[in-house]
Amino acid sequence: MQTKNIISIDDLDNKSIENIFNNAREQIIKPLPRGHVVLSAFFEPSTRTRLSFELAASRLGCSTLTFDPMSSSLKKGESFAHTLLTLDSLGPDIIITRTNFELDNILLEQIKKIIINGGDATHEHPTQALLDCYTLLDIFKSDNLAGKNILIIGDIAHSRVAHSNIKLLKRLKAHLSWLGPKIFQDQAIEEGNSYYSFNNLDKHFDAIIVLRIQKERFMHVMSDEEYWQQWGLSMERFKAFGPQCYLLHPGPLNIGIEIADELFSHERSLIRSQVKNGVIIRAALMRFLLS
Ligand code: CP
Repeated sequence: MQTKNIISIDDLDNKSIENIFNNAREQIIKPLPRGHVVLSAFFEPSTRTRLSFELAASRLGCSTLTFDPMSSSLKKGESFAHTLLTLDSLGPDIIITRTNFELDNILLEQIKKIIINGGDATHEHPTQALLDCYTLLDIFKSDNLAGKNILIIGDIAHSRVAHSNIKLLKRLKAHLSWLGPKIFQDQAIEEGNSYYSFNNLDKHFDAIIVLRIQKERFMHVMSDEEYWQQWGLSMERFKAFGPQCYLLHPGPLNIGIEIADELFSHERSLIRSQVKNGVIIRAALMRFLLS
């Protein structure tokens, strides 16, 4: 049984994910038989997630509403909980949220409409995992990632993208490794699959996923320069992974900290494909939830 809200990637079973990926593969975003309303309520900044949801919704023939926290009654002291319940009472079919705290089950139980989590604090970002895994399946022309070595580089401890991605990559049978400073280690990746330096990598990788340091979520003690020297992905370091290796980054990129500018447009970079696939995956997910 499919749950109403998509807060975690765990809220989608394998059959539902297969359905969403198959729908996305058709690449044609046809309007739904009747109009729906999709409301985006982003309490944290976003470029990719909010706009791709809104574009996907309009291609599905939905009306879109954008809640702007800066000009809302939050400024008059209304609580987040009352704001979300008020948005729910307006009666949209789907509400997309982005919050700087983890979404709360007690609040979610009071909401009648469908909530899709567009990223909550360090918890999860389920649609980013869907689009990242779809991008990998598409490039490898496969319906699973068995036998593929994927390396995640950077701050997995505070990354909602990593927390959803690790779960889905494992479900798709990818072999996962992580590289970064110990302060960013996360138990989701076993100690034996962790690397603390670019010098001790002992296997080839089919793809690497580079993450931004989530400076807004903790007191960062390392300087940008120090991070770049030890952990930053330069062109030279990327070339050392070999000609077979693809590059992903969920964005936004912090150039000269975790990644070199020239890698954005590298021939093996899938960064722009990730953004493009974000629209079709989010359309496929909303079609699935509204059908
Ligand atoms: N990847 C991602 O969530 O990007 P935005 O913050 O721009 O939405």
